[in-house]
This record gives sequence, structure tokens and C-alpha cells, in this order.
Amino acid sequence: MKKITLCILSVLLFFWQGFSNPVLQNVYARRTVTLNGTWNYIVDPLDNGYYDYRRQPLKNGFFENRKAQAPGDLVEYNFDRDATMTIPGDWNTQDDRLFFYEGTVWFKKDFTYTAKSGKRVFLYFGAVNYTCNVWVNGKEAGSHEGGFTPFAFDVTDILQEGDNFVIVRANNERKPENVPTLNFDWWNYGGITRDVMLVETPEIFIDDYLVQLPKGVNDAVEGYIRLNSPAAGINVRLQIPGLGIDRQFFTNEKGEATFRIGAKPDLWSPESPYLYQVKVTGAGDTLLDRIGFRNIATEGKSILLNGEKIFLKGISIHDEAPFRQGRIISREECRILLGWAKELGCNFVRLAHYPHNEHMVRTAEEMGLMVWSEIPVYWTIRFDNPPTFENASAQLRAMMERDKNRCAVVVWSVANETPHSPARDAFLENLAKQVRDNDNTRLLSMAMEVSGFSDNTNKVEDYMSRFVDIISFNHYLGWYGGTPQDCKTRQWYIPYDKPFFVSEFGAGALQGYHGDPGQRWTEEYQAELYKNTLEMFDRVEGFAGTSPWILMDFRSPRRQLPYIQDFFNRKGLVSEKGVKKAAFYVLKDFYLTK
Ligand code: GCU
Repeated sequence: MKKITLCILSVLLFFWQGFSNPVLQNVYARRTVTLNGTWNYIVDPLDNGYYDYRRQPLKNGFFENRKAQAPGDLVEYNFDRDATMTIPGDWNTQDDRLFFYEGTVWFKKDFTYTAKSGKRVFLYFGAVNYTCNVWVNGKEAGSHEGGFTPFAFDVTDILQEGDNFVIVRANNERKPENVPTLNFDWWNYGGITRDVMLVETPEIFIDDYLVQLPKGVNDAVEGYIRLNSPAAGINVRLQIPGLGIDRQFFTNEKGEATFRIGAKPDLWSPESPYLYQVKVTGAGDTLLDRIGFRNIATEGKSILLNGEKIFLKGISIHDEAPFRQGRIISREECRILLGWAKELGCNFVRLAHYPHNEHMVRTAEEMGLMVWSEIPVYWTIRFDNPPTFENASAQLRAMMERDKNRCAVVVWSVANETPHSPARDAFLENLAKQVRDNDNTRLLSMAMEVSGFSDNTNKVEDYMSRFVDIISFNHYLGWYGGTPQDCKTRQWYIPYDKPFFVSEFGAGALQGYHGDPGQRWTEEYQAELYKNTLEMFDRVEGFAGTSPWILMDFRSPRRQLPYIQDFFNRKGLVSEKGVKKAAFYVLKDFYLTK
């Protein structure tokens, strides 16, 4: 009976499957074949491999990977004889010609595959910045927009036995309607910047699951196990040995089983980042995960972790590798950056301004660091443009789907420093609603701008203050306006019965440049600003934490001052070579008092 059921379901699935993008929850626990490694690439500034000379899409573009067969054949490209680079990896740091490059680069990877009956195969990308089209064996697998979230295409029916090739057209051109838009203060690293792999699943498989503490409860575990198909009556199983949980369920007509089970887990915290082994099985699929359990909430002007008031001792971090720069590709690089955060005494990291590598979130969780995770709705987004909202919404959904089981993520952020307007308010209100509709267990925030000043008082007034749990804002008194001394007398007006969090403050300093505190770009100037800013905010009721800008100097095309910036934003507490500046110790000492 079971075989007939699965067979019927497989037929149903075959017709249903092509119309949905899988979540592939916890992809690293699945049966995968890595495609990381050496890829050939072709630089194509005019998209000559995609459009003809009349700018019409080619039917026989570079994606066909053609070769001249006869002496008279005209083929004006050859992947196999062109350059190679290591994937994952941005192109900017692997080819000097591409350091500033914005445009299309084509990538090709040969691979062999042995078909297995009853299996589906997905081609998974951790991220490609910014848009991409993907072909397998010359047949289009799909396309994606958004530079920092994972996606996958079902390639079961376009793989062939034995030799295969995948071709990716990646393009990192900035456009007004994109998310982020034209202007941002980080390097526009392009290409296949995160892991690539084939993911093998049964025809019917566990596509998604959630295992967490219910909001405000610490004596039950709730969630769901969801198949890739609306198949009812399929047996699924949840095992959490450390909690004595071993329960079986049958899926409903949506292919989903929900649960709420009494349990009293040891709670995850920065001091005790305990993760439970969790095993989810069903429909011939088995997934192992490590999941922590914690509550995060606010009460008046306090933030509560597991019911206890906590001060978020944070630091902001960009996804940029220490020492070599470029996008982070290894857990070792994550450990180096997060190790510096732990040295500061942090219990919190703001992963700015876009979803970071999954390795970064998982490493933070293992090291006991809470995470602020953010989509790149940054500065002057086209808030009046519906496709731009759809894009931002899709990136928010993908970020929340990927990290829903990561207890370290305690804040979802929907924006950074976005200028006030009715269109912006509506755009962000809808994103805030999307967060609330999909996750009532985490805090919602965004980095607002300080919007008013009078009588030596800064005011934080933002339409979005009614939707967020934490009033967060960036402010650079003493760097962008005023002096570090002004912090000694500045007042603050933050009229909300909510915690406030300073998501950014800071100053630039060239590591090793010393002088008196009044000399801009010295380590002493930066240290003085840190000291005065921390004292200023510490005087204000409701100060619940901060993530100063920023852990490490990072590349930015907006920072041209020769001999000081040289296309680096110098607000890091650590230089890009890993040398700590004086302000590092100012922040560390402050956190010792918290
Ligand atoms: C802003 C912005 C950052 C930027 C920083 C700076 O607050 O959020 O992305 O790098 O200021 O000017 O250094």
C-alpha cells in the first residue's frame, strides 16, 4: 500500500513540483555534491554573450558553451581556454582587471553526475551578487535577483548521465530600482560569493521545518515539519534525545505536521550557548540539526533574554574577510571576526547591511553571540516602485526562511537609514507586517535616522517607531557634525516606552596614526569619541545596547582620501590587517561595566 501511495504522490508531485522554489531547510545537512572549486569565466562588459547586436536576447548565447567544430566555424568565445577563479569567491579580489568591475561575468563548471531513480536534484547557490541566470547543459534552470540570499533550481530533468556543465551569468550592476539601490557604503563584490552544490532529495522530502520555544514560553517546544508536496498521511518523526522527545506525526492535506510538546530545555544564552541535537525524518528523508532554545522579548524600556534584563553589548560587522578582504567564504574567517567581537566582551553582533553567510550565523550561535540580521533596504531605495518592494519582500522572506531555526538571531531588521516619506513609511510598514506574520518570537527593528534637533537636544521621531520592538538609530555626533566634546552636554528625546539601541556611532582612524584627540583620523580622536559617546548614551534612560560602527576597516568606493582611506572605510576598531586601535579598548572597558 505504502509503495502505491508514494508512487501516486510522486506522479502528483511531478506536476506540482515545477511551480515552487524549495526552501531546502538546513541544506548543509542534506545529501549534497559540492560544485565549489575552480570555474572558468568570461568577462562580458556588454553582455555580448546574452544579447545580439540589436540588444535582443540570443538563442545561442554563451550558455550553449559551443566549440568550433570545423575550420570554418565562427565561435567567438571559449570557456575552457579562458581564465579560472575559485568559487565561492567574489571576482573583485581574484582578478585585478575586475577590482572595480560592474557588469556581467560568465562562469562555467563541468561535473559528472550519476542518475539515481526516485531522486530529485536541486542546484543550490548560497548567494550570487546581484542577478544571475543559470543554465545546465545549455538549458535554462532559472534566474535570481538579490545578492545575499540562497536560492535553488530543480535540475532533475535537465541533468544527463555522466558529463554535465553548469553556466552562470552573474551581473552586479547597480540600478535605482534594485535592493540595495545605486548608492551604498560597501564594496560591490560581484559573482558567486557563497557555496554552490547539487542537493539530492527523495521525490517526496522534508523541505522545511521549525523547532523553537513558543513566544514567552520555556516549558514547551513547538513547530512544524513540512514536505515539498501537499501529501497527507505521510509519517514524520521528531527526535530531540536531550529532551527525551521522540514523537511521530502524520502530515495533513498540506503535507505538514505541526506540534507543541511539553519540555523544559536548558536555555541558550551567550554564557551558555547550548545546542540540542535534533533529528527530523520522514518520507525517506533524514535531517540532523543543532538547535538552541531561548526567549527574547522587551518589557517597557528593557530587553529580556530568557526573562532576564540584558544589555546588548554589540558591534557591527560587514561580510568582508579579515586580512585578504573580499566576501567571507570559510567558517575560519567567521571565527576570526567573531573572536575579536568576543574579545571586546560582546554578546551581540549586528550583521550589516544584508543577510550574511549562513556559516557566520551558525558560528555566532555556537560562540554565544546574539545576531541582528538585516535586508539591504538601505538609504534611498525606490520606495514608490512596486517591483522594488517585491524584491525587498523576497529577500526578507529568504533571510527568515534560512535562519528560522537559528536561536542566535534575535532581531530582524528591515531597513537602514532610510529618508522619511509617505512611500517609505508604507514600504517599511508592509515589511514590518511580513515579519510579524511569519515570526512572533523575534524582535523587529530597523536603523532609523535621528530626525530632529533643537535646544541641544537630539530627537528620535520616526513613523516606524510604533511597529518596532526596539527604537534603533545611527548617530555620529562628533564625526558627521559637532565635536566629540559636544557629547558631554548633548540631550536626547526618545519619547517611547521601548528600549533604545544605538545601531551605529563611530569615527574614522588610520591604525598607527597618533596625535592629540583633536586631530581627525588619529586613533586618539576615535578613542575620545567612543569614550564621550558611550558616556552620553549611558546617561539616557532606556539605553539597552549598541553596535558601534564597526569591527573592522572595510573596503568602500565612497572613501577616497589618499594615504588615510585609500578606498577603505576607516571606522573599524581593528584594521583590515587585524591590528586593534585604541578605541577597541575603550569599548572593551565599557562593556566590562555592563
Ligand atoms: C551610515 C551607514 C553605514 C556607513 C556609515 C559611515 O550610518 O549605515 O553603512 O558605512 O554610516 O558613514 O561610515
